[in-house]
Amino acid sequence: MANVTRDFFIGLSNNKFLNDQAKKWGFRLGAEKFVAGTNIDSVTNVVKELNNCGISCTIDNLGEYISDKSEAIAAKQDLIKILEKIHKEKLDCHISVKLTLLGLDINQSFCMENTKEVLDAAKEYNIFVNFDMEDYSHYEQTMAVLRHFKETYPQIGTVIQSYLYRAADDLEGLQETRIRLVKGAYKEAESVAYQSKQEINRNFIELAKGRLLGEAFTSIATHDHNIINELKTFIEENKIDNSKFEFQMLYGFRTEMQHELAKAGYPFCTYIPFGTDWFAYFMRRLAERPQNINLVMKDVFYT
Ligand code: FDA
Repeated sequence: MANVTRDFFIGLSNNKFLNDQAKKWGFRLGAEKFVAGTNIDSVTNVVKELNNCGISCTIDNLGEYISDKSEAIAAKQDLIKILEKIHKEKLDCHISVKLTLLGLDINQSFCMENTKEVLDAAKEYNIFVNFDMEDYSHYEQTMAVLRHFKETYPQIGTVIQSYLYRAADDLEGLQETRIRLVKGAYKEAESVAYQSKQEINRNFIELAKGRLLGEAFTSIATHDHNIINELKTFIEENKIDNSKFEFQMLYGFRTEMQHELAKAGYPFCTYIPFGTDWFAYFMRRLAERPQNINLVMKDVFYT
């Protein structure tokens, strides 16, 4: 049953018609709990509040699978404005970018041109840029873009998904690269990805421990208290320095735990999406945790 529900919401997240319509609706279905407004000012106000609580942030300007060049160019310009704002307001914040927002589906060289302009601005302001990892059909291309820019722009990193069989091998080649480790949010074939929660969790823990003992910085991105507790013990037993890692969670999820971890002295970063293109992001969150459907019901029936 859980898999059927998951597949249903993942199916909705990929529905182009609904994604296009949702941009016109404004926030609906309780999405505002997980998306920090539609414009740069609304998201930076949230960043400031979290920074005041000792929490660092990463901003995601929502949007993906762009097929229109002018939209990709507008997205690039927005990202540059965000970088300027982060710099001007001295925010403790970096950005997370989906390469299909910058035109990866149009063609790779067009996406590279847009990405380069964003990376130039980020370099000027010394701001880290994370390439979010999308579904498996974009995996090789995302890695290729990362490899292409890595030498010139050391302040970039990407995401490794523990549901992929290849995750451990790929991490071998990324020992000097900042990585966000996640379980993986898309529906992938059995030929490339573990399907059971136990295997995905076991792999996540193994990969996280390996990274923590290595050299480069790792963002441990999960809301799973069992995994977080096991890794906290590992960090203490192995005297892993705070400069080597952070915990990351999504805005609106387990907010209390986010603050508790930060108060306990763990480096913590909240991933904050904003913008009008909220539908696919929100449907993936429902796929992960169908309990969030309660929010949808409240929104539909009580507002
Ligand atoms: P999971 O959903 O497996 O939950 C495990 C357990 O934790 C649950 O059974 C429950 O007990 C508890 N729990 C979880 N959420 C809870 C809640 N809200 N309240 C109470 N209990 C809760 N994916 C991807 O493919 N590419 C990417 O680039 C990213 N980026 C990214 C950034 C950040 C900061 C995060 C946190 C996640 C991503 N993801 C992602 C999504 C990721 O792959 C994954 O789908 C989700 O994080 C869900 O998996 P979890 O590890 O959070 O736990």
